[in-house]
Amino acid sequence: MTGFAWPLPSSDVVGDLPDGGTLRLRAPVDADLDGLVVSSRDAGSIEFTHLPENYSREDAALFLRSMLYNPEALLWIVDDPDNAWHFGGTLEVRLVNRSGAVVELGYTTAPHLRGRGLMTAVVALITEFLFDYGVHRVQIKANPENTASCRVALSAGFHREGTLRDAEYLRGQWNDLDIFSRLDGDA
Ligand SMILES: CC(C)(COP(=O)(O)OP(=O)(O)OC[C@H]1O[C@@H](n2cnc3c(N)ncnc32)[C@H](O)[C@@H]1OP(=O)(O)O)[C@@H](O)C(=O)NCCC(=O)NCCS
Repeated sequence: MTGFAWPLPSSDVVGDLPDGGTLRLRAPVDADLDGLVVSSRDAGSIEFTHLPENYSREDAALFLRSMLYNPEALLWIVDDPDNAWHFGGTLEVRLVNRSGAVVELGYTTAPHLRGRGLMTAVVALITEFLFDYGVHRVQIKANPENTASCRVALSAGFHREGTLRDAEYLRGQWNDLDIFSRLDGDA
């Protein structure tokens, strides 16, 4: 028995940022639509993800609505630490294996907030939250060429377990994915 129950609470998750600011993961609001469109049209967001080109406001609205009703995934919006109630990124927690209490993370930082430790702090915070709610294993998969994403995993205390060969088909080609994990018993 793991004490794990899905879905997890989707309440706000609040923590600290390395610069002393407040980190808040919250539910989406209508005002996030514009920020989500800007972020999803960014070339750096598209390169390693399945986002369509010319991402529209309708795509953003559909995504937020579909996540609301997705039985196997939860979405938090990362609040912009410099501008409360503005879009700072996304954090998805996807159910991988209910009986084993295994979940996987997916994430994006809004382009204007990248490179200052935000997603590392988000991943560290949500992982502790997940362990508090009975999750046993948290995993992340990232293209080995996506240095920033792999660095997020390692800097948030995840262990690199290896490379899954041709684990993803993206825009006409197979890609390897590195897999990282943290277990609730890890030091
Ligand atoms: C991956 C992503 C979420 C990282 O978010 P972030 O908030 O900028 O990450 P952080 O600031 O916490 O940086 C984490 C590490 O990556 C490094 N890093 C950040 N951007 C980088 C870049 N473009 N190239 C190389 N390293 C980079 C940082 O120096 C830091 O390294 P350190 O821990 O050794 O100091 C962000 O780049 C992004 O949204 N990318 C597009 C979407 C995406 O690829 N999502 C992941 C799919 S698996």
